Amino acid sequence: MAKSSAPYQPLLLRVLHGLTGLCLIGAILSAYWTYDTYDGRWGGIPLPKFPEIESIHGTFGMWTLLIFPAFVVYACRPGQRRLVQPDTLQKLAQVGKPAWWYTLNRITNTLALLALTFALFSGKMMGSDWLPEGELYHAWYYAHLISWIIMVLAIALHLLMSAKVGGSPLLLSMLTWRFREKDSPAHWPQQIKTWWAATQQGAWATWFRPMTALIALEVAILVSIVAAWIIPLFKHA
Ligand code: HEM
Ligand code: HEM
Repeated sequence: MAKSSAPYQPLLLRVLHGLTGLCLIGAILSAYWTYDTYDGRWGGIPLPKFPEIESIHGTFGMWTLLIFPAFVVYACRPGQRRLVQPDTLQKLAQVGKPAWWYTLNRITNTLALLALTFALFSGKMMGSDWLPEGELYHAWYYAHLISWIIMVLAIALHLLMSAKVGGSPLLLSMLTWRFREKDSPAHWPQQIKTWWAATQQGAWATWFRPMTALIALEVAILVSIVAAWIIPLFKHA
């Protein structure tokens, strides 16, 4: 493939997507080990019993929760072309055409965001003493277990669709470190200053206008993340 047509991902996207992905993979693997240590009702692999894995999992989960809002803002604004579009339903009628695959890819990107929102929210509703006390019946524990299955399926579909529409060049473009001059972190301080100056002059008034479906999705995800931090404060008080 000619170099100029190789896919290129903005550096900020790669940083936010990569950090979310790494913390999430840590959460998924440690979640499995937690299940294996304390539960195992649906079978498992005989990993060593390791009680500390629960708080290691909580730490991976917390880091995912901290980085995810920034990724959501990126995906719903600069990255919006790669999430569901207003014409998604019409495009879905063109079964098998390239537009159909691109539309499925956008749907699976969006599903990955929703799946992670559910996993993070249900994680925050977990009590850290439930599993050590053998309380395997809480509704939020079942919800959190199901969120793991949904998350693994969502990532599998996400990877399959990305592979289908762009093959390994697209997958690798998300994982490389090289960046173009215009994307250099050396410009970030200046860009943040410009952004901050515009914000002070009132640019914030248009942050949520026009209220497109994707901005509504962004707000809904951010509100649920804030709720996930606040609700446990009342439960355990
Ligand atoms: C685990 C390894 C992962 C790989 C190799 C990977 C790969 C990719 C690739 C190649 C793209 C570009 C696809 C396109 O052009 O539409 C992409 C975009 C995206 N990925 Fe992933 N992904 C991974 C994990 C995740 C996870 C865990 C999430 C869930 C939160 C996620 C959410 C997204 C979203 C929302 C986009 C669209 C980003 C935008 O343009 O704003 N990815 N990913
Ligand atoms: C994609 C899958 C998962 C993600 C992203 C995830 C994420 C999280 C998050 C964000 C927390 C809250 C941490 C905090 O309080 O700051 C949490 C807690 C917890 N999760 Fe998960 N989780 C996943 C799957 C699972 C599974 C399958 C189990 C099954 C055993 C599990 C067990 C727990 C437990 C026991 C807690 C409470 C830990 C504590 O507060 O110390 N998680 N998880």
